[in-house]
Amino acid sequence: MTQEKEDERLDLEAAYSVRTPAENAALYASWAKTYDESFAAASDYVFPQQVAQVFHEQGGHGPVLDAGAGTGLVAEAIAARKTCLIDAFDISSAMLSVARSKGVYRKLVQGDLTGKLPFANGSYGSVVSAGTFTHGHVGPEALGELMRVAASGALFVLTIKAELYETRGFGAKFGGLGAQIYDFQTQEVPIYGAGAQISHALDAGVIACFRKV
Ligand SMILES: C[S@@+](CC[C@H](N)C(=O)[O-])C[C@H]1O[C@@H](n2cnc3c(N)ncnc32)[C@H](O)[C@@H]1O
Repeated sequence: MTQEKEDERLDLEAAYSVRTPAENAALYASWAKTYDESFAAASDYVFPQQVAQVFHEQGGHGPVLDAGAGTGLVAEAIAARKTCLIDAFDISSAMLSVARSKGVYRKLVQGDLTGKLPFANGSYGSVVSAGTFTHGHVGPEALGELMRVAASGALFVLTIKAELYETRGFGAKFGGLGAQIYDFQTQEVPIYGAGAQISHALDAGVIACFRKV
């Protein structure tokens, strides 16, 4: 298959049609090398910058866990304003390999967010994530482990595809965390900038921001 044909096959529809962690790993193994150009730049993908903006506004600090780090766009956006220790976690070793080449992570760990995370309790001062709580990727079941590995007072800045916020149970999950979190707030933001020329150009996301007690 030519690169052009391959890029046509690797689009948002393909990303939204995966169902399992194994399908995610296979999809992103093919997409990793062209993701930054054929997807992020071409669609004016602004979620990583939105997460970095909230992270800095809220005084986020390291060590930071970037959940579903992909090619490292969130860490690049955070590092553009302040030096921070950031660890990448992702199911796709191919995406992590691209992320590694950018030199913005302390360590990069391959694994499944829907399982037990290979980090000790209270390891992280912040947990960030962009574009990973979406169709066919990761659901609210991952939040328990992310809470476990976060330190007391840790800042969370997580994006969720807006249409899934209630239907996939994210709102209920956050509500269920009750007294374990504080300063909970959400805001709806565009996922793509004004330059997006894709069918999903007007899609919205929710940024959920809170701290662990
Ligand atoms: C749309 S990309 C977002 C990557 C990056 N955060 C960004 O904003 O560009 C979604 C990422 O989630 C990862 N992912 C999907 N399912 C996962 C799982 N079960 N555990 C860990 N990572 C997963 C994919 O490998 C991919 O890198």
